[in-house]
Amino acid sequence: LIQAGILGVGSYVPERILTNKEIEKMVDTSDEWIRTRTGIRERRIADPALSTADLAARASRNALEDAGVKPEELDLIILTTCSKDMIIPAGACLVQMELGASNAGAFDLEAGCSGFVYGLTVASQFIATGAMKRILVIGSEALSKIINWEDRNTCVLFGDGAGAVVVGPVAPGEGILASKLSAEGSGWEHLYIPAGGSKIPADPVTVEQKLHYVHMNGKEVFRYATRVMEEESINLIKAANLELSDIDLLIPHQANIRIIEHAAKKLKLPMEKVMVNLDRYGNTSSASIPLALDEAVKSGRVKAGDNIVMVAFGAGLTSGGVVLKW
Ligand code: ACO
Repeated sequence: LIQAGILGVGSYVPERILTNKEIEKMVDTSDEWIRTRTGIRERRIADPALSTADLAARASRNALEDAGVKPEELDLIILTTCSKDMIIPAGACLVQMELGASNAGAFDLEAGCSGFVYGLTVASQFIATGAMKRILVIGSEALSKIINWEDRNTCVLFGDGAGAVVVGPVAPGEGILASKLSAEGSGWEHLYIPAGGSKIPADPVTVEQKLHYVHMNGKEVFRYATRVMEEESINLIKAANLELSDIDLLIPHQANIRIIEHAAKKLKLPMEKVMVNLDRYGNTSSASIPLALDEAVKSGRVKAGDNIVMVAFGAGLTSGGVVLKW
């Protein structure tokens, strides 16, 4: 099998910053509550004219440039998102058009906030068999467009942004050392958009009842997250034949600082070894890990040879992760 790794990384966030103070004017909440319960200070909001695929294309151009790969060299585009542009077609096809990636297949992958680690794992299989050489994996979200801005349980948490990586063959012993995908479908009702699909098709009543927005049972998701983040990390490190002390950086899904600190404490990892940027971006779902990875790489926090654990949980419910030697 051929070893798969990341050849380049890039990201894009919209310019518009929405602060907690501004949200105080929209719903019954406070900057203090949001900061202490979630760790979030501000998030980015996409312009009305920009969709998930537009953000994805911008992040992708940065990743392609970083990797020194031309769009027409891509064999496949995997867009991971839970805020796709339209139900049909796949947003990945819109990205393929925008990039001019004329030789690439394109599909969307939906695994909630675990989307990116799922996408990376899928991509690595095509590289491992030699079937493909250059795959773009994107996590992109315009969540602000599917959030009920009158629901304080959800609207304070999410933000918009995109991150992308180019996956390709690397030397033996480098790149993706292990990955794991998990799901607990029985928890699907804890985080979902009730209407607009085939179960409850959209009509004026579902719109009136705001069933086309994200609905979440925060407590249940929190419970799931604190359990699986630790479990998945331990299993991943074992599967990569590493010890906890070998880990240079944990890049957890950026949902809530309390979930991240809980995992770090259970793993006995000091917070210096944990990437956190949710204070500035909120929960950007599928985009959160590639966005954090790009920041970690560009700021010099990741060096060649470092062992990185990326671990996520999200709607589905899903969880999973990837261990990577940079
Ligand atoms: N502002 C002020 N008060 C609020 C807010 C708010 N935005 N939201 C809830 N409250 C109130 C509640 O009504 C409750 O009041 P009560 O005690 O009078 O009933 C109180 O604050 C405490 O509420 P809890 O729900 O217990 O707050 P908790 O500490 O659990 O934090 C939170 C809530 C932040 C949502 C947390 O449960 C969480 O982070 N859950 C995980 C959510 C998540 O990560 N979702 C994304 C998953 S990824 C994906 O796939 C998209």
